[in-house]
Amino acid sequence: MANLQTDFIGIRSPNPFWLASAPPTDKEYNVRRAYEAGWGGVVWKTLGAEGPPVVNVNGPRYGAIWGADRRVLGLNNIELITDRPLEVNLREIKQVKRDWPDRALVISLMVPCDEQSWRDILARIEDTGADGVELNFGCPHGMSERGMGSAVGQVPEYIEMVTRWVKQYSRMPCIVKLTPNITDIRKPAEAAKRGGADAVSLINTINSITSVNLDSFCPEPMIDGKGAHGGYCGPAVKPIALNMVAEIARSPETRGLPISGIGGVTTWRDAAEFMALGAGTVQVCTAAMTYGFKVVQEMISGLSQYMDEKGFASTADLVGRAVPNVTDWNQLNLNYVAKARIDEDACIKCGRCYAACEDTSHQAIVMHPGRRFEVDEAECVACNLCLNVCPVENCISMVALPKGMVDPRTGIPVGDYANWTTHPNNPMARAAE
Ligand SMILES: Cc1cc2nc3c(=O)[nH]c(=O)nc-3n(C[C@H](O)[C@H](O)[C@H](O)COP(=O)(O)O)c2cc1C
Ligand code: SF4
Ligand code: SF4
Repeated sequence: MANLQTDFIGIRSPNPFWLASAPPTDKEYNVRRAYEAGWGGVVWKTLGAEGPPVVNVNGPRYGAIWGADRRVLGLNNIELITDRPLEVNLREIKQVKRDWPDRALVISLMVPCDEQSWRDILARIEDTGADGVELNFGCPHGMSERGMGSAVGQVPEYIEMVTRWVKQYSRMPCIVKLTPNITDIRKPAEAAKRGGADAVSLINTINSITSVNLDSFCPEPMIDGKGAHGGYCGPAVKPIALNMVAEIARSPETRGLPISGIGGVTTWRDAAEFMALGAGTVQVCTAAMTYGFKVVQEMISGLSQYMDEKGFASTADLVGRAVPNVTDWNQLNLNYVAKARIDEDACIKCGRCYAACEDTSHQAIVMHPGRRFEVDEAECVACNLCLNVCPVENCISMVALPKGMVDPRTGIPVGDYANWTTHPNNPMARAAE
């Protein structure tokens, strides 16, 4: 079996699957059972400063979006950081780490944005034996209104400043957790790097309102007739998270900065995708909240099997492997030509592809008598819409035309690689001549 052992900024874990800072990592009882189930590490639910405990709402704190089979696709929450006393958390962390030395245990932190507050909390956590800290600059609700969480994560100068304090007052490895509620994710990542962060983790949750009650006219979840925006996570956010991870992994300013990938990881495949885009570990919240701690077992066996099949000796062989293939649109090969092909034996004659192509694409699917569907290659632009709406997996495929073959749509033979930067229709390309 492939070796899933991971060394992430000096923090070792038997596999790259960590639980993200959230309810699954809120207390000793949970974390022990998570380790027993096989999780390689946890980021403990965010701790705040000493003082009166945080107060959560006493009503619904979650909203959701479901697929047709009622599986959770997106989860929204208005929960704050831990509402358990600091000393209880610290005591539990120390005990758990002592009993599970081979597992990663990182402490998530969020305190007011002043030097003394950070100095104080770092001094308190120093002797827990934890492996590192994660700075929660991402929580977009409740705490951000108090000048913490995403209020810090949206200002690169604050990120740099606080990270610097943390590196100054602690010897622990420091992961900066980024908010996706920002225009260009590279800026906060660059700031974290400048401040001395050992790694970044992303994404935290996305500002969201999941639904509006059309009787009470109130956003949900509803607390006594009012609703507030929450943080969105789960499978629905994975594409956003993957892009942000890739942006950091391929940017010249942040290339090589270790990344812990978060956002919608539900299966080993999701994890492998984050890793291929540069994540050294992945963190999981919604999948554990939806399916329980044992989901990690499928992740471990699936990733091991995949790595065996690929001949990868360790996770290092996978991490970052897709990064060189992430490019800008203007570098894509405009001379690449493909055509949709329908496998008539697999087709169930539902007609979705036909409706989609006929009404919103290129009128390239012909419906023959008996509901036999065929692609007209003289019209098909290979947009992929039919494949995406087809309910039968692998029924429609995209087939690339070999070089030299005439594209029946344009009458032009498939040529060598050429992109927009040199295309004759690009006025900027002409200007450069
Ligand atoms: C109920 C809930 C509470 C959360 N609390 C925290 C928190 O205290 N600190 C933190 O950094 N992230 C918190 N998160 C965000 C998660 O750690 C994670 O970044 C996010 O859920 C995306 O991962 P997922 O798609 O696997 O859920 C919370 C998420 C949820 C759903
Ligand atoms: S790939 Fe696009 S253009 Fe071609 S048949 Fe499918 S939907 Fe139509
Ligand atoms: S969507 Fe798929 S299954 Fe339905 S008619 Fe088209 S090819 Fe056949």
